Amino acid sequence: MSSFIVEGGNRLTGEIEISGAKNAVLPILAGTALSSGENSIQQVPKLRDVRVMKEVLESLGAKVSQEDNVITVNSRLIDSCEISESLMRKMRATVFLMGPLLARFNQVRISQPGGCSIGPRPIDLHIKGLKALGAEFTEGNGYLEGKAEELVGAEIHLDFPSVGATENIMMASTKAKGTTVIRNAAKEPEIIDLQNFLNGMGAKIRGAGTDVIKIKGVEELNSINYTVIPDRIETGTFMVAAAVTNGDVLLQNVIPEHIEPIIAKLLEMGVDVKHNQDQIKVVGVPKIKGVDVKTLPYPGFPTDMQPQFMTLLSVADGTSVITETIFENRFKHADELRRMGADIKIESRSAIIKGIDNLSGTIVEASDLRAGAALVLAGLVAEDKTEVRNIYHIDRGYEDLEAKISKLGGQINRVSK
Ligand code: EPZ
Repeated sequence: MSSFIVEGGNRLTGEIEISGAKNAVLPILAGTALSSGENSIQQVPKLRDVRVMKEVLESLGAKVSQEDNVITVNSRLIDSCEISESLMRKMRATVFLMGPLLARFNQVRISQPGGCSIGPRPIDLHIKGLKALGAEFTEGNGYLEGKAEELVGAEIHLDFPSVGATENIMMASTKAKGTTVIRNAAKEPEIIDLQNFLNGMGAKIRGAGTDVIKIKGVEELNSINYTVIPDRIETGTFMVAAAVTNGDVLLQNVIPEHIEPIIAKLLEMGVDVKHNQDQIKVVGVPKIKGVDVKTLPYPGFPTDMQPQFMTLLSVADGTSVITETIFENRFKHADELRRMGADIKIESRSAIIKGIDNLSGTIVEASDLRAGAALVLAGLVAEDKTEVRNIYHIDRGYEDLEAKISKLGGQINRVSK
């Protein structure tokens, strides 16, 4: 198992380029299974989750190659609709294949996705939407089998604006007979990116980014070249890294409107944030003000930035409250920050954080991707050294994290145990 050894005390200064968005590229790669041609996806980050999605597509028979940040998928050769348990266990996002496989082959067989450390993460909303389109599901020894004579467009109201359910239903509807309307749809930028990719293949989708998405079924989907959007959560993570080290960092290849709630929060804390259409400059201040944060579906404050802000608020002035409304159990990083001296009390879905002057380096464990990132940020500002363990979580979602932090003057090394 590898760890990061992080030395605190350096201000991060300079500039880095943000990579492509993990949460855009995963549904888009799944969507390549809808066409029987060769799709080329650009600005794909080199991540563990992308490697797993490549493995999943290859296990179905597709021919997949990756050259730097470009992935080419020839899904003409797909001849299976079953995703193995071992692959399902590696990554929940494998569920994104349900929609495309039902749309193309009228069947899919997956093992029940496990929960993970941030909550049970059911897929009931995915199933409900796919059933509304005509799919029937049977369960048996941990497997879920979906079959559909024909997928027919339907009116679907999501009980919760689930990102994954919205994306799965969108993809299943692209080749359904007639029109599908998804109401209370998720509005994340990655949904718009998926719509743009699918429409580029010939789908007829309108409304992504709003809570009503209309999809008119088409017969065939062709293949295209497509560049995914930059990663708004990586952007936010480095903005917090600049703020927490009182640094001065310029981020290239960003879409500021995607991180508007993060910009607003940092400004509220007294951090200096300026941007133009594809760059953001963050200049820290010696003491940041504590603020309250409540995670909400987009365009609210993103849950994927909650752990990073808990680190920042741990060393801010005054008392702050973070309320996590999206996941049941996304405060595991609080225990680890407490080991570094943070003063955090958890009460149900809220974390009450009393800012302290300094965190102290020690051994901490990453429990998920964003918690791991939050602990690296804590190490950058803590006294002495911090060892962050289980960094395979971090490798799932951050491309070249240690190289980017080192380029900005941070002291971080990867060690294999
Ligand atoms: C996506 O997960 C992201 N992952 C997550 O990012 C992100 O945290 C999440 O959206 C919320 O923004 C990808 O896009 C690959 P949801 P997803 O369906 O689709 C409940 C990261 O760090 N729910 O919007 O799984 C669910 O349990 C990851 O990059 C149901 O109850 O999120 C959760 O409490 C972490 N039934 C809430 O909704 C369902 O059928 C939000 O889930 C589906 C979801």
